[in-house]
Amino acid sequence: MHKLGRTDVAVPPLGVGVMVWGDMTAAPRMDPARNAYGPTSSLDDQVEALAVSLAAGVNLFDTAAMYGKGVSERRLGELTEGNPSVVIATKFPGAFFSRASSLPSTLAASLSRLRRPVIDLYQVHFPVRWMSIPRVMDLMADAVSSGLVRAVGVSNYSAAQMRVAHEALGRRGIPLASNQVQYSLLHRNPETDGVLDTCRSLGVTLIAYMPLASGALTGKYSASHRPAGWRRYRAPFRGAAALASLERVNAAVGALASKHGKTRSQIALRWLIQRDVLPIPGAKNGAQAAENAGALTFELSDEDMRSLT
Ligand SMILES: NC(=O)c1ccc[n+]([C@@H]2O[C@H](COP(=O)([O-])OP(=O)(O)OC[C@H]3O[C@@H](n4cnc5c(N)ncnc54)[C@H](OP(=O)(O)O)[C@@H]3O)[C@@H](O)[C@H]2O)c1
Repeated sequence: MHKLGRTDVAVPPLGVGVMVWGDMTAAPRMDPARNAYGPTSSLDDQVEALAVSLAAGVNLFDTAAMYGKGVSERRLGELTEGNPSVVIATKFPGAFFSRASSLPSTLAASLSRLRRPVIDLYQVHFPVRWMSIPRVMDLMADAVSSGLVRAVGVSNYSAAQMRVAHEALGRRGIPLASNQVQYSLLHRNPETDGVLDTCRSLGVTLIAYMPLASGALTGKYSASHRPAGWRRYRAPFRGAAALASLERVNAAVGALASKHGKTRSQIALRWLIQRDVLPIPGAKNGAQAAENAGALTFELSDEDMRSLT
């Protein structure tokens, strides 16, 4: 177990993203969580994904108030009620155009859907112009003081925005725990935009979302076999250059998979873990969750790591 940033919240080196858990037919018709990945998995699949993850020591689950307008949080609450070993990360706000002042009521609604008295990691989902970072961090600090939140994180924040959040929370004696950003072998922006370095220098955990590049790094999709859902219209599935880069990275990942007798997904996740990053791959069922948790069971050598650089 590691600590999340400089907080005392213990987390495994890998979590599970549950954005598409729940009965998404109950979500608004154009909701991204309902449409991005095609049909959602069954309740039984999600029960099994939870069970195999917990059995493998993967007890961190990431959701958000916005996923399916509460559908994902509600399912996670149903499945984990009364289990104190589960660590839950969720996100504010509940709708794109929300104001900072809606934080207390949004938090109360999330707690109710999640069926618990406290959220382990409460993250600001994305920065928006109309929400001052110091103001939202002050409201987050109030939630920590009230005992409703254990650790405060952000998501999709730039290096400069992280520093503002870190300083604002610091005035209240609270560390900034994490910044959740897109990071994978096919999306390496955090290495060049200052986010990875800033996380390291401030002692903030970088949580990597889309660590399998929406399934592209599993090796099961190609130019001739594109995935279901809206994701097929975005990088890395869209355009000849993106698909060529997908083939190139998948070849390098495939070579390491053969060498270690592991799957491509496990190599892609292990690479992040060994960069001190916490990946939260989405898993739709028990088989995917078990495979992803297998990233905890081996190590890549320095030479292996370099071959992916
Ligand atoms: N903060 C943000 O703005 C933000 C944005 C996006 C996501 N997130 C978070 O990050 C989490 C993960 O991201 P993501 O789900 O978008 O992308 P991802 O983890 O890169 O891809 C997940 C998808 O890959 C496939 N997959 C997963 N494990 C597999 C395996 N072992 N073998 C074969 N296929 C496998 C599944 O879809 P198929 O089987 O259909 O291919 C699954 O839905 C989300 O659940 C959410 O919690 C946060």
